[in-house]
Amino acid sequence: MRNLCAFAPLRFIQKMNAKSQLQNAIDAALHGVDFSGVAPETLQVAKATNPQFGDYQWNGALPLAKALKMKPRDIAADVLGRLDVSDIAEMPEIAGAGFLNFRIKTSWLENALNEAQNDARLGVESARETGKFVVDFSSPNVAKPMHVGHIRSTIIGDAIVRLLRFKGHQVVTDNHIGDWGTAFGKIIVGWKSDLDEKNLASDPIGEMERLYKLINERAKSDASVEDLARSETALLQSGDEENLKIWERVRDLSQEQFDRIYALLGIEFDVALGESFYNPRLPALVDELLAEGVARESEGAVAIFSDGKAEPKDDPFLINRDGQWTDFPAIIRKRDGAATYATTDLATLEHRLKEWAPDEVIYVVDARQQGHFRQVFAAFKRWKPEEEMRFSHVSFGTILGDDGKPLKTRSGENVKLQELLDEAQSRALAIVTEKNSAYDDQTAQNIARAVGIGAVKYADLSQNRATDYLFSWDKMLATQGNAAPYLQIAYTRVRSIFRKAQSEGIEMENAPIHLIEPSEIALGKQISRFSEAIDAALVDYRPNALCDYLYELAGSFAAFYRDCPVTQAGAEVRNSRLALCALTARVLQTGLGLLGIETLEQM
Ligand code: ARG
Repeated sequence: MRNLCAFAPLRFIQKMNAKSQLQNAIDAALHGVDFSGVAPETLQVAKATNPQFGDYQWNGALPLAKALKMKPRDIAADVLGRLDVSDIAEMPEIAGAGFLNFRIKTSWLENALNEAQNDARLGVESARETGKFVVDFSSPNVAKPMHVGHIRSTIIGDAIVRLLRFKGHQVVTDNHIGDWGTAFGKIIVGWKSDLDEKNLASDPIGEMERLYKLINERAKSDASVEDLARSETALLQSGDEENLKIWERVRDLSQEQFDRIYALLGIEFDVALGESFYNPRLPALVDELLAEGVARESEGAVAIFSDGKAEPKDDPFLINRDGQWTDFPAIIRKRDGAATYATTDLATLEHRLKEWAPDEVIYVVDARQQGHFRQVFAAFKRWKPEEEMRFSHVSFGTILGDDGKPLKTRSGENVKLQELLDEAQSRALAIVTEKNSAYDDQTAQNIARAVGIGAVKYADLSQNRATDYLFSWDKMLATQGNAAPYLQIAYTRVRSIFRKAQSEGIEMENAPIHLIEPSEIALGKQISRFSEAIDAALVDYRPNALCDYLYELAGSFAAFYRDCPVTQAGAEVRNSRLALCALTARVLQTGLGLLGIETLEQM
C-alpha cells in the first residue's frame, strides 16, 4: 500500500468493548495509509449483519480500494497482514469481495465479563472527551393541559439526559415553559369577567383553558373583545400590578400540574426559566440585531432575511413556492412592536451561552418546529459568528390513533397527558392483579405505577423517533415482545433465580464466569455489548438503539435459561451461571434506568 500522509487518529479504546478494540487494531493496521477522500464512517468496524459469519465485520477494504485504485481483496489481505487482534478475536478470513469477519474469542469475553461484574459501571467507560450540554425539553405551555405532544419531548429528552450524564458529560436541563405571549390578554379578560372560583379550585387548568376559549370565541365575532385583550396584554407587559398578579397565579397553578406529572414520571429539571424570563431583554436585542445588520425593517416589522450565502435549499430564510425561491424571513418584532417566539429563542441562546458556555444545546421538540429552529440557529450564527457552540434539534414524529391520524379523544380533543398516564396505571393494575391477586393494595399500586409508566415511556423510546407511531395499549402493555413489561418481567425472573438460590443457601458473590454452552456464550456476547449500545443511542440521540439492545438481551437470557441449568448444575458451573445471571440483571436494570424505567423485584 502507498505510504502517504494521514494516519488514523488514536482512538479512545474502551477496555471491555470489543468493537472499540477491534477498531483500534484496524486503525493501527491502516497506519500510514492515505485515506483522504474516504468517508471515515465507511472504515468503521460494525456489528455483523449475519451472526453466522461472526460477531463483527469490517468492510473498509471496498471504499479504500476505490480511492486507491486497488483490488479490495488485496487491500484486505494487506490489512490482515498487519493486523493483530489475537487477544480479542480469531484471525479473520477474507470473505466475499474483501470483507473481514471477526469472531470474538471466548477467553476475551470471559475476561471482559469478569471485569464488568467487578465494575460499578458494568464496563461502560466515560467518554474520553466529556462536554457540557444544555438540554431543552418538555417545555409545555401554561394555562393548558400538557398533551401527548409534550410527552414525547419529556420522555425522549429525559432519556438523552440520563445517557449523557452516564457517559460523564455535564448536563444542564432547562424546561423552556411557554409562560408569555398574547394568549394572556384573553385569559386576563376572562379572568376579570367570567372566573369561576369553584372551578378554579377543583380544576385550575380546565378553568383557565375554559376562560381562554370563551374569550377567544367572543373575540372572533366582536372586535372590541380583541382590542380589550390586546390592551390587557399591553398592560401586563408594562407591569400593571393587577394583571401581573393574575399572570403569576396562572403560572403557579399550571406549574403545580406540571410538577405532579413530572413527579409521576420521575423527571427533574435543573432550571425552568420559561419564556417570560427573557422578556426584559427582547427590545434591546432586536435593536442590536438591527444595528449589526443581521435584521432589517420590512413593512413596519423587523425581520431576518436570507444573506444569500447558502444554497437556496439550505437557506432557512428562503422557501420554494411553485418552483420559485422566495423570502421566508424570521420576524423578530411584529408591526405592533411585540417580540416573537424566535426573538425569545435568540435571547435564550444568548443567556445559555453566557450562563453555562455549553459545547452543545439540544432541543427536544416536535418535527413541526424544524423551520423555526433552522432559522434560530442560523440567525444566532450570523449574530455571533465567533461562537463555536453547536445546536441540535432532536425532532420527533406524531403519536397516531387507531385511525392513523394524530391521537385524539373520542370527542376530538387533544388527549391529556395526565389522563393517559392514569389510564396506563389502571390498565397495568388490572393486569397485575389478574396475574397475582395476593398483593396487598399498596404493593399492587406500586407495581402498576412502575409498569404503566414504564410501558408508556418504552413505547415512545423504542420507536425510531423521526417517524410517527401508532398508539396501542395492548402493544405497550404486552408481556411478550418489544415492550417494557416484557423487560421488567425478564428482570424479575432473573432476580427470582437468586431468591431461589439464596433460599437453598447457595453462595454466589461474583464467581468467575466461564462460558460453555452456545447460548451461554451468546448471552455473554450480548452483555459485553452494553457500552456499544449506549454509544449507539447517543449517536444522533436515538434511545431506540438501547431499547433494541435490551430487548435482544432479554431474548438471549431466555434462550440461555431454557438451555442451561443454573441452580441444578454442579457447584462451579452453577456459580459461574449465577454470576452471569447477576450481570444480566444489572445490565437490564441499568439500561432500563437510563431510559427512565423502573425495575421491580417481583411483579
Ligand atoms: N412551548 C413550546 C411548545 O409547546 C415548545 C418550546 C420548545 N423550546 C424552545 N426553546 N423553543 O410548542
